[in-house]
Parts: sequence; structure tokens; C-alpha cells
Amino acid sequence: MKEMKDDILKVLLSEKEIQAKVAELGRQITEDYQDKKLLMVSVLKGSVIFMADLMRAINCHARIDFMSVSSYGNSTKSSGVVKIIKDLDMNLEGYDLLLVEDILDSGKTLYYLREILKERNPASIRIATLLNKPERRTADIVPDYSCFEVPDEFVVGYGLDYAEKYRNLPYIGVLKPEVYTK
Ligand code: IMP
Ligand code: MG
Repeated sequence: MKEMKDDILKVLLSEKEIQAKVAELGRQITEDYQDKKLLMVSVLKGSVIFMADLMRAINCHARIDFMSVSSYGNSTKSSGVVKIIKDLDMNLEGYDLLLVEDILDSGKTLYYLREILKERNPASIRIATLLNKPERRTADIVPDYSCFEVPDEFVVGYGLDYAEKYRNLPYIGVLKPEVYTK
């Protein structure tokens, strides 16, 4: 039987490493949001696993909401202009937003999204990302919380996909080159 893990060249971050970092971040956020009105916003779909683990590592009141966006323009070059496919359910007025992302790459998508959400009068907006690829950044955006810095390599697992696959890998890995060329 051919298994999903046979497509993985190497494990970049193990389940154990991820869990330890997410727990640490949860403690930090618990401290920072003690007297705030935390609303965690997950941008579908890559951040759902991180969101599910992070929210359980937070020990103060945390509300959650989800949104889905798509980039305009062709698929290889993201324009950064996003179209809202599914909007948030909640009115953001007065909430301390924490945008929960899987990976901050060029940063264009999140930059634009943050501009849209600012107009809805939240009390504050911060960004928590599981992975940060600073080498690829073109937009003026820095995460407030980041679990790991990763090199400029395409990674999958723990929510991140390649062609909608590998999201259910429990760790973060690099794909074998033949998976792309097939
Ligand atoms: P950007 O920051 O606007 O360039 O877009 C970030 C989005 O690109 C992420 O939310 C992912 O969906 C996707 N992405 C960027 N790098 C990777 C990667 O290494 N693996 C999987 N998805 C990635
Ligand atoms: Mg994504």
C-alpha cells in the first residue's frame, strides 16, 4: 500500500516540536489577553489545525470566527487583492482580533485582509502565524506571534496543502520533487 508519508522527503518540524511551541504561544497569549476581548480569526483552510490546537492552549476567554478569501489575478502571482468568499459572522466592534494564519509568505493576502478588517473598528488587531518565511516577504507586515521561521522551501502538513492534499499530515514536511513533476 502506498501511503501519504511516502511522498515526504523530510520532516521539517515534528509533532512534538509543534505541540511544544503551540503550548508556549498559548501561555503567552493567555497572559497578553487577560484583560482583553479576544476574538481569534482563522483564515480558511490552512490555519484550521493550528487554530484548533492554539485555542485549546489558551486559558482566557477566546471567541472564534472563520473567513475564506481568494486572491484575484492568476494563480502563480498573487496580486494581494483578495475577494471575500465567506465573511466573518461576528461584528468586530470592540474586539481584540488575533488573525491566525498557517504561514506568512509574501504577506500580501494578510496585509490586504488587515486593511479590510481595520475598517470594522476592532479594538486591536494582531497576527499569530505558525510559520514565517521572512525571505519571501514583499508586503509591509510582521507577525506579532510566530512559532517557527522556515527557509524558502515549499512545506506541507499540519493544515498546509499542496493541491489540497497533505493537510492531514500531523507534522510539517517537505515533499519529494517528483510529487510536483508528476
Ligand atoms: P501570501 O503570504 O499572501 O504570499 O500567501 C500565503 C498563503 O500561501 C498561505 O496562507 C498558504 O496558503 C500559501 N503558502 C505559502 N507558502 C506555502 C508553503 O510552503 N506551503 C503551503 N502553502 C503555502
Ligand atoms: Mg492559507
